[in-house]
Amino acid sequence: MHAYVEELAKHVGQEVTVKGWLYNRRSSGKIQFLQVRDGTGIVQCILTEDAADKSRFEACEHLPQESSLVVTGVCRADKRAPGGFELTAREVSIVQVAQNYPISLQSHGIGFLMEHRHLWLRSRKQVATLRIRATVIKAIRDFFDSRGFILADSPILTPAACEGTSTLFEVGYFDDKAYLSQSGQLYAEAAAMALGKVYCFGPTFRAERSKTRRHLTEFWMVEPEVAFADLDDVMRLAEEFISFIVSTTLGRCKEELKVLERDTVRLEKVTPPFPRISYDEAIKMLTESGHDIKWGGDFGAPEETAISDRYEKPVMVHRYPMACKAFYMKTDPQDERLALCVDVIAPEGVGEIIGGSQREDRLEVLEKRIAENNLSKESLEWYLDLRRFGSVPHGGFGLGLERTVAWICGTEHIRETIPFPRMLYRIYP
Ligand code: 4AD
Ligand code: MG
Repeated sequence: MHAYVEELAKHVGQEVTVKGWLYNRRSSGKIQFLQVRDGTGIVQCILTEDAADKSRFEACEHLPQESSLVVTGVCRADKRAPGGFELTAREVSIVQVAQNYPISLQSHGIGFLMEHRHLWLRSRKQVATLRIRATVIKAIRDFFDSRGFILADSPILTPAACEGTSTLFEVGYFDDKAYLSQSGQLYAEAAAMALGKVYCFGPTFRAERSKTRRHLTEFWMVEPEVAFADLDDVMRLAEEFISFIVSTTLGRCKEELKVLERDTVRLEKVTPPFPRISYDEAIKMLTESGHDIKWGGDFGAPEETAISDRYEKPVMVHRYPMACKAFYMKTDPQDERLALCVDVIAPEGVGEIIGGSQREDRLEVLEKRIAENNLSKESLEWYLDLRRFGSVPHGGFGLGLERTVAWICGTEHIRETIPFPRMLYRIYP
């Protein structure tokens, strides 16, 4: 019977078949230890000379790393074995003898690994990271689905900018041109007016010229949007959402976090409420600690790290100056210079993982903002209709999946949190 490595605990004492790839091998004369990985784990298979016929035994002795094979044998629990189980092999069949595998278990330079990303994915830490990514995605969907949010996905080909015109990817669209979506938000707003509370979740694109450890040109964003929500509602939703993702992942991915050597103590502290500080307070804090930052500008990585270092949990910075934020944000009625917005900054230098706001719901103000930002009113007429026909206060946010996964995994660079990262100088493989 075929069993996955992660299910072996259920099969102790039984004969099972494991199908996978040779991860590592060592032999001591009449006995060989084959470590086989199958995506769910690694199991050591013990092959003795008497169990296999001679030619099979010899073939295994020279089997290169990453050769594919099928092993049948009795499963035994053994605390000393990597993974806790062993297979006493009765039969080994080799599916393919791999060529000389370019990635050894020793370390390689990052350029080489990125060039071989399609193979690098098979490494233990990469597998653990991608398994955590899948768990985070599931947690995201579970959170919204169980709270009555309706999934309403936004288009990827769009006629206009959402997050500023400087990071747009332009594509030909028959005789016309279109842009790859920077954010599904504007469409999610339309969907929220139809369905009450919605979320969209898909790939988004930014022609980021910045070569940092937090920027991809293609990344996934989940964006809830709620009718009749104000900024406080948005902040509460954000802290509950993040806490749910973290606790779910801690519960389901113990093995993966161990492989990544993640210290989970700080993640365990991620529960609502999160600290809230205003942009003004953040500026004061930064200038007092010697940062050269003037009121009015957005924060970069050094400022975000300085802010988040003061707290154990993610911190919510609200009410940034309107001038450094997007056109659709609602102005603060208490202070017209400010936007009713929030950025959630994750601990440990990860930086902003959520950007959100209450949306400008007044037609005339929005028209003015579109003009001030030199955006094409024509391509946003449909969006203005949302303010013409039953406009209501509403808001939402976008959470960047890869930054969130990088934070939970404790991964230094965001490129390892997506199977095939797209970056300024990287589009192969
Ligand atoms: O702050 P941003 O630009 O917000 C929006 O796009 C809003 N329209 C979302 C909304 O309110 N519905 O981006 C949201 C998040 C960031 O906090 C960050 O986590 C992630 O998207 N993000 C990136 N992740 C990886 N690479 C990039 N280049 C990113 N740009 C933004
Ligand atoms: Mg932002």
